[in-house]
Amino acid sequence: MRNRVCEILGVKYPIIQGGLAYVGNGALAAAVSNGGGFGQVGTAGRTPENFKEQVRIAAESTDRPFGANLPISEHSDNTPYIEAILEVKDKLTAISLSAGNPKPLVSLFKEAGLKVMIMTASVKHSLKAQELGADIVICEGFEAGGHDSPLEMTLFSLIPQVSRELQIPAVAAGGIANGQGVVAALALGAEGVQLGTRFVATKECEAHENYKKFLVEAKDDATVVLERSIGRALRVLKSPFAQTILEFEKSRPTVEQLLPYIRGVNNRVAAIEGRVEEGWMNCGQSVGLIDSVESASDVVRNLAREAREIAAALGGLSTLFAD
Ligand SMILES: Cc1cc2nc3c(=O)[nH]c(=O)nc-3n(C[C@H](O)[C@H](O)[C@H](O)COP(=O)(O)O)c2cc1C
Repeated sequence: MRNRVCEILGVKYPIIQGGLAYVGNGALAAAVSNGGGFGQVGTAGRTPENFKEQVRIAAESTDRPFGANLPISEHSDNTPYIEAILEVKDKLTAISLSAGNPKPLVSLFKEAGLKVMIMTASVKHSLKAQELGADIVICEGFEAGGHDSPLEMTLFSLIPQVSRELQIPAVAAGGIANGQGVVAALALGAEGVQLGTRFVATKECEAHENYKKFLVEAKDDATVVLERSIGRALRVLKSPFAQTILEFEKSRPTVEQLLPYIRGVNNRVAAIEGRVEEGWMNCGQSVGLIDSVESASDVVRNLAREAREIAAALGGLSTLFAD
């Protein structure tokens, strides 16, 4: 059985690897796709040249579909990234647009032959994405690693409200790291899942070993939310550096005052260079479920196997609610 998300993306399983700033490299995207999911090469934290190089690496490592991610407000000028995406469009199946107004970009990428996925965190924005012509809405709950919506809606409440309004498929993101999460998301009305944090703790991801070690050792209470003082939300691993930012935020800084702490370079030093005392690491609430660093292909296959087993076992549930 293939559902609409499988059909649109041309994949075996409706399991997507989200855009991952700094650490969403080509080898990771290819490994996810080789496992039967849909990998994505990120533009955040990369130069346009490096992005194209990662797309080339991905294309050399898989003959299955994969895509790219463009967080719109991440780059001060999107033009070189849009040009880079269009240059490599023949290697891509879809583009996911997040963190900004996708309106000017949807028709541009659709005319280039790409499927367009728009990330949202509310019913209102999901309906807007549908109206703009998105093929898929990726709806992200507040459990998710990285930037979250300041609306702070959790996935359990968000997905059923979104999916009942939409005609196009909704994909659930945030807090999913095993087969239980996959099946639960589908039970709530999603037609696929997107994972981020789980895919950082994989062999192919270019995150530093120190970051991956943090993820494997972290428990359920290991994340904190930064940037609330400036009306935003960034979920990261609890660490002395993150605690320093939280303390500073108590003084109600302006965006300019907070910027030296939250700029991308502080993510890179920890996530890529492993200097975890000097920067922050994106991380979602499902991190307590991550026990090992595996191949991303195996992560996808294990998610599918667990989902298969859980879905089969749940068949008996109908008797619990018999008339
Ligand atoms: C390390 C990391 C970096 C991320 N960077 C991006 C990004 O550049 N663009 C984007 O749209 N989402 C980004 N996200 C969000 C993910 O694509 C995904 O939606 C989210 O991680 C799902 O929640 P989970 O972390 O609970 O699995 C990032 C998440 C993490 C953990």
